[in-house]
Amino acid sequence: MKVDVILGLQWGDEGKGKIVDVFSPQYDVIARFQGGPNAGHTIEFDGKKFVLHTIPSGIFHKNSMNVIGNGVIIDPVILFREIDKLSETGMKPEENLLIANRAHLILPTHRMLDSVFETAKKDAKIGSTLKGIGPTYTDKYARNGIRVGNICYPGFRKTYDNLKELHLKMVSSYNFDITALTLDGVPFAEYEARWFESIERMKDLKVLDAEVFINKSLVEGRSVLAEGAQGTMLDVDFGSYPFVTSSSTIAAGVCTGLGVSPHNIGKVFGVFKAYCTRVGSGPFPTELINETGEKLRQGGKEFGSTTGRPRRCGWLDLPALKYAIMLNGVDSLIMMKADVLNPFERLSVCTAYKESGKFLDSYPYELSSEGLEPQYTEVEGWHTDLIDSSSMEALPVALKNYVKFIEDFVELPIDTISLGPDRLQTLQRN
Ligand code: GDP
Ligand code: IMO
Ligand code: MG
Repeated sequence: MKVDVILGLQWGDEGKGKIVDVFSPQYDVIARFQGGPNAGHTIEFDGKKFVLHTIPSGIFHKNSMNVIGNGVIIDPVILFREIDKLSETGMKPEENLLIANRAHLILPTHRMLDSVFETAKKDAKIGSTLKGIGPTYTDKYARNGIRVGNICYPGFRKTYDNLKELHLKMVSSYNFDITALTLDGVPFAEYEARWFESIERMKDLKVLDAEVFINKSLVEGRSVLAEGAQGTMLDVDFGSYPFVTSSSTIAAGVCTGLGVSPHNIGKVFGVFKAYCTRVGSGPFPTELINETGEKLRQGGKEFGSTTGRPRRCGWLDLPALKYAIMLNGVDSLIMMKADVLNPFERLSVCTAYKESGKFLDSYPYELSSEGLEPQYTEVEGWHTDLIDSSSMEALPVALKNYVKFIEDFVELPIDTISLGPDRLQTLQRN
C-alpha cells in the first residue's frame, strides 16, 4: 500500500477538513504531517459543526486510526481543548488517536515569541495566527526543541525551564512585559499552569514511533491518508515568502512529516476553492477589494476558522493553481465551494500574468512586484441555486463549462465538487 495525500493548493482554508472527513471511510489510517494549531479544519454533518486544529479530520469515523505525525507541532492546551470538546459529544477521541513521539511541543513562550516578533515587524507583519508556529519550528531546526517523547523523562521540567529562560533572554531587548501577555485570553502564568496539566494528561495518550506504525500499516495492507494543513501558497519554500507558514505544506512534506519514503506516496488529491481566499498579510494578485470581494466573503462565510479574521477574497488564479499542481504532483482535483459562485452572472478567472506589459511564461517569483498584472478571462456564471444537483451530470451547463475550462487549463480532472459545507453536499465523478 501507499500513502495517499489530501492537501491545499491555495492559501489554506480550501476545505481540506471536509474532504478528509468525506474520504476517511475509505482509509484505515488518517495522518496529519505538518503544521500545528494554526490550522482550522471544519467538518459538518447531521447539523453539527466541528473545527479541528491538531486532531486529524478522520476522527469522526470510529474505524480509522488518527495519527498526529512527527512533522506536526503540538500545543498540549489546544490539543486537550479539542479532545474535551469532542468528548462532550460522547465520543472517545483518545481511543483512535496516536501521537508521534518525535512531534515537537509548542511552549507558552513560543507563543510569546510569536507575538513579540510579529509586533516588532510593524507594517511587515506576517499576519500569523500567533499560535507559536514560527518560533517552534525555529527551535526544532536550531536543535533546541522539546519533543513529545521527552515528557516522561525525569529532566523534562529542567529542559522546559532552560528553553523558557532562553526565550526570555531573547525578548529582553524588546521592552516586553510577560505579566501583561495573554494567550487565547488567558494570562500567561495561568496558560503555563494549564500547559503542565495538559502535559500530565498527555502521558495517558498513545505516544509512539508513528513512522514505524505508518510503515507497518502499509506493509500489512492498511490504507493511509495524509492530511495537509495550510496550503501550497503558504509553503515555506514555494509560497509567497516571507508571508508563509514555517513548514513544508506540499506533498514532499509527507515524507519528512510521517517518515515515509517517496516511493510510498500514492495518489495526491489537490483541494482548491472555485475562487481564492487568503487570511493574513502578503501579496494576493487576484484579490477583490470591492463589493464583489465582499459578496464572496459573505456568501462563502469567509472568516477564519482559527482566528475569526475576515478572509481576503478574489478570483480563481489558474497560473497559481498550475504551479501548485506541479509542486505536488497532483493526480486528481477537488473543487470546493462552487455554490458560493451561484449568485454571479459573470465570473473572472486569472489565466496569465503580465509584468511591465510582457506575458510571463512562468509563475512570478515576486508576487508583489510593481507592474505585475493578472490577466483575466471572463466566463459565464450559472446564476442559479444548486440545490437539486445530485450528480456531476445534473450540474448546470455553465458550471460544467467552468469545470471544463479549469480542467483544460491545468490538464487534470476535477473528480470531486463540493456544493456546501455538509459532508453530504459532495459530488464525485463515477
Ligand atoms: P480547511 O482549513 O481547508 O479545512 O478549511 P476551513 O475549514 O478553514 O474553511 C473552509 C470553510 O468552508 C469551512 O467553514 C467549511 O465548513 C466551508 N465549506 C467547505 N466546503 C464548502 C462548500 O462546498 N460550500 C460552502 N458554502 N462551504 C464549504
Ligand atoms: P488551514 O490548515 C489559512 C496563515 C496565517 C499567516 C501565515 C503564517 O486551516 O488551511 P502562522 O500562524 O503559520 O505563523 O501564520 O499563514 N495561515 C493560514 N491561513 N489557513 C491556515 O490553515 C493557515 N495557517 C496559517 O494567516 O498569514
Ligand atoms: Mg482552515
